[in-house]
Amino acid sequence: MAGRFISLEGGEGVGKSTQLKRLAEALRGRGLEVVETREPGGSPGAEAIRSLLLQGEEDRWTAGAEALLFAAARADHVAKTIKPALADGKWVLSDRFLDSSIAYQGGAGGVGASVIRQLHQVGSGGFLPDRTLLLELPGRAAADRARERDGGGGDRIGSRAEDYHSEVASAFRLIAEEEPHRFRIVDASGAAEQVTQRLLAALEDLL
Ligand code: TMP
Repeated sequence: MAGRFISLEGGEGVGKSTQLKRLAEALRGRGLEVVETREPGGSPGAEAIRSLLLQGEEDRWTAGAEALLFAAARADHVAKTIKPALADGKWVLSDRFLDSSIAYQGGAGGVGASVIRQLHQVGSGGFLPDRTLLLELPGRAAADRARERDGGGGDRIGSRAEDYHSEVASAFRLIAEEEPHRFRIVDASGAAEQVTQRLLAALEDLL
């Protein structure tokens, strides 16, 4: 059976990482081989770039340099981890992928969505997920959850101002509406179990 590439997206504090683990378990329960991965990172080269991106002063990189580093990390992740696993018939679940760059660097950072897509073309040949699950929480719930988790000590990007993160959220919604075939918007509120069920339902046509 052919493997599938699924990305989970959303702003800070929507519960992506927890849900990724739960979804992977649920898919394994259906007899699939599942690889869990994340961005930035997911391969040794990309994990090295992750430290450059998430540590240090907030203004360590210009918006353009930041976009280039994410694209470089993604190129390595696609070539070394994602494509080989898919070729082996595995399902790959990634905590974030291209759409995070479109929303954060492209939208909130002002680089523009089309430039981010061009960089992705150069780095990864424009490779896209079979399905992208966008987790959303209403109002301030996600920001409150992220603050509780990080205690004010979030990474370079997570700790940016509230305006930046609300632009990220609007950009995500816009991309999802532009690509209804690839995207499913999933309500991340309620019990973890319920959210996992919603995610599974959003993959049903691929199973
Ligand atoms: P994480 O909080 O999901 O580990 O992600 C790390 C941070 O990196 C988070 O603040 C989102 C940000 N990010 C981008 O700005 N652009 C990207 O392309 C990716 C993958 C993550």
